[in-house]
Amino acid sequence: MKTRITELFGIRHPIIQGGMHYVGFAELAAAVSAAGGLGIITGLTQKTPELLAREIARCRDMTDRPIGVNLTFLPTFSAPPYAEYIAAIVEGGVRIVETAGRSPEAYMPALKAAGIKVIHKCTSVRHALKAQQIGCDAVSVDGFECGGHPGEDDVPNMILLPRAADELSIPFVASGGMADARSLVAALALGADGINMGTRFIATQEAPVHEKVKQAIVQASELDTRLIMRRLRNTERVLRNAGVDRLLEIEREKGEALQIADIYDQVAGVYPKVMAEGELDAGAWSCGMVAGLIDDVPTVQALIDGIMDGAHRIIRERLEGMLG
Ligand SMILES: Cc1cc2nc3c(=O)[nH]c(=O)nc-3n(C[C@H](O)[C@H](O)[C@H](O)COP(=O)(O)O)c2cc1C
Repeated sequence: MKTRITELFGIRHPIIQGGMHYVGFAELAAAVSAAGGLGIITGLTQKTPELLAREIARCRDMTDRPIGVNLTFLPTFSAPPYAEYIAAIVEGGVRIVETAGRSPEAYMPALKAAGIKVIHKCTSVRHALKAQQIGCDAVSVDGFECGGHPGEDDVPNMILLPRAADELSIPFVASGGMADARSLVAALALGADGINMGTRFIATQEAPVHEKVKQAIVQASELDTRLIMRRLRNTERVLRNAGVDRLLEIEREKGEALQIADIYDQVAGVYPKVMAEGELDAGAWSCGMVAGLIDDVPTVQALIDGIMDGAHRIIRERLEGMLG
């Protein structure tokens, strides 16, 4: 399948693995790229630019296909040295960066000067247009369904994707709620050039996370996610658990007066405990509604092959068959 996204990134299938904190290590990124998609290492999971350089080198040893690095510009308690992370990316020979969170505008000159293709992840048409205007090569449009930060507009992909298609001239991928061949064909029909998946890739053999995390996703239904930090305008969709219930209770008690310090214990330092140790209730961790569509833990290759084979079947048999 050839789309503007496969052409832009030099990949075989229009399937991207979005950056994921404490999930997007070399093992997963390499598996996705080796299977013909675009695997992405999560930059800030590596505590220093030197560690990121090492992770990129590890990934390079596992595949010679294109890989990307995610740089997330979120409100953090202490700003990471982004310029040095970018230097590590450039020196590591990576030519694709997925930016997310705040606008990457300040870093565009450095990224473009190094010949890097930038795909910015955003949750609204206005932010997608801004990304296009500042020179991003593509955008990843994250609908309200998505795991992680869906923004504050609450527009699901059924509306957001055709709106993006109407407004954008650069290619874009559909993100949030994507799981299988049906998702891919639907996303293409709505105007996207491919898909970006987060939660689905966690429940794979190669994802270097605790088995309990994969099983939690397999067992969860589409009703099991919750939105947290709404009042802080930093909304995150997470899997419901005991820590999240505690957090939501605090949010209800504090009401408008809620401060990040009130819920710090439930959101800070949680990812290593959950992803590496399997302490599922340690606090809030991102998960999409798409958990309701996930009921197995395949290899990345089987997942991607299944999506592509299924997409061909849907297009050639189901859809073409409807045209009498
Ligand atoms: C556990 C987890 C961690 C994530 N961490 C990040 C991150 O650090 N940076 C980022 O840009 N997106 C992050 N995301 C969002 C994903 O890259 C992707 O946009 C999202 O998961 C898509 O929605 P889906 O889960 O429905 O596929 C994370 C998602 C999950 C599930």
